[in-house]
Amino acid sequence: MLTLGVETSCDETSCSVLRGKDTILSNIVSSSLFRHKKFGGVVPEIASRHCMEQIQCVFEEALREARIKPEDLDLIAVTQGPGLIGSLLVGVAFAKALAYQLGIPIVGVHHMEAHLVANFFGAKEPQRFVGLLVSGGHTMLTFCEKRKVHILGETVDDAVGEAYDKVAKIMGLSYPGGPILDKLAKGGNPRAFHFTRPKQDKRFNFSFSGVKTAVLYQFRDPKTGKPNPLAPSTKDMAASFQHAVIGWLVEKALGAAQFKDVSDIVVGGGVSANSYLREKLTRDAGALGIKVWFPPLVLSTDNAAMIARRGFELYQNGKRSKLNMTGDPGLCIR
Ligand code: KG4
Ligand code: ZN
Repeated sequence: MLTLGVETSCDETSCSVLRGKDTILSNIVSSSLFRHKKFGGVVPEIASRHCMEQIQCVFEEALREARIKPEDLDLIAVTQGPGLIGSLLVGVAFAKALAYQLGIPIVGVHHMEAHLVANFFGAKEPQRFVGLLVSGGHTMLTFCEKRKVHILGETVDDAVGEAYDKVAKIMGLSYPGGPILDKLAKGGNPRAFHFTRPKQDKRFNFSFSGVKTAVLYQFRDPKTGKPNPLAPSTKDMAASFQHAVIGWLVEKALGAAQFKDVSDIVVGGGVSANSYLREKLTRDAGALGIKVWFPPLVLSTDNAAMIARRGFELYQNGKRSKLNMTGDPGLCIR
C-alpha cells in the first residue's frame, strides 16, 4: 500500500511517499525560511504563496524519488490543521483534487499527532505513553493510549519554540532562534541568571511569556526601550534561558509519566531537535526507569512522512475524510 503525505501547515511544503507504515520511499521538504529571515518570524502571506509555488514540483519530486507514478498511489494523507490557514488551504485543495482525479481515499491528519508518530518508523511503538509536543506553535503534554491522544496540559501563552525565536530576536540573533540559541548555550554559564518559575493553576500547563519579558528587560531599558549598555553576554543568557525552560519541560514530562504510570515518553515537534532537551530528558528519565523517544533529526521538524504515517494509521482504523473537508487552523485533538 502506497500513501502520499502532504504537509503545508506553516512555512514548509512537503510531500512524501510511504510504503506500508514504515518504509519512507521519499520525503521532500521545501522551506520558505530564507524568505522570512529578514522579518524575524514567519509572514503568513509569504508562507502560503511559497506553498502554492512549490506544491506541484515537490509532489513530482516525491514521486520521482520513490520511482512511482500517480496511479500507483492508494491513499492520500494531508495536514488538516492546526496551522496557518493560507498554507493549510494549499495542501488540502491539492490533496483533494488529486484524490478526486485518482479516485482514491483521502484522510485529514492532525499535525501535532503526526509529530508524535515521527518516532515510530521501524520501531515497535508503545501502546501507552506520555507525549511531549514542543514546536513553534504548540507546547502540550498528552497521554496516548491505543492510538488515541488526550491532552493533559498545554501552554497558556507562548509555545516553547516561539519563546526561543522571540528571545533570539531580542538578543539580535537570526530566525529561527531555536537552533541558534541551542548552539550558543553550549559556551555559556547556565547559572548566570535565575528565572522565576511561572505559577500554573493546572499541574501540567506551561507558560513561557514571563521568561521572554525577563530577557527583554536585561537587553532593553523597560521605560525607554533603548538598548541596555550593561546587557549581559548572549552566551550566558542563552545558556540560562535554555537551562530554565528545558528544566521546566523535563520536570513536567516526568511528572506526567509518573502520574499516568507509563514507562515511555515520546517527544515530537521542532524543539525535539534541541540538544539539551535530548540529553537531560534521556538522563533524568533513565534514572526513573522511563524510556524516552526522540525522532531522527530529519523527522523532528515539519515533514510529510509523519503525515503519511499518521494518515495510514487512521485509515487502518477506518477513518475516511470527505471531499468537502477544509483546512482548520484551530483543529483540536479529539
Ligand atoms: O515543528 P516545527 O518545525 O514547526 C511548527 O510546527 O511550529 O517547529 C519549529 C520550531 C521553531 O520555533 C524553532 O526555533 C524550533 O522549532 N527549533 C528548536 C531547535 N530546532 C528547531 N528549538 C530549540 N532547539 C533547537 N535545536
Ligand atoms: Zn510542526
